[in-house]
Amino acid sequence: MKADDNLCLCFHVSWRKVINYTRVHRVKIPSQLAECQGAGTGCGWCIAAMKRIVAKAESLPTDPDGIDAWLEQDFPASADYAEGRKKHIADKNDPQSD
Ligand code: FES
Repeated sequence: MKADDNLCLCFHVSWRKVINYTRVHRVKIPSQLAECQGAGTGCGWCIAAMKRIVAKAESLPTDPDGIDAWLEQDFPASADYAEGRKKHIADKNDPQSD
């Protein structure tokens, strides 16, 4: 995962944007991130990642290399993340999945 990859795939909001917004606006709860270009207000897949970012709000990296290193350490590869979203959406649309 890289900082310029999209965290919110529904609204094309990057990890860098959400991380910086969390830091600058001192976000306390993930739902506040809806103000960041609508992040988290579509399929809901990215909400778990946003919760992890908000939980680390006091220690988020600030420099681009630091953000990339943190993402690579703590989050899945971009393709795996996107694949997880596809499954999430398919499960939501499958009435048999409950
Ligand atoms: S990926 Fe963020 S709401 Fe769908």
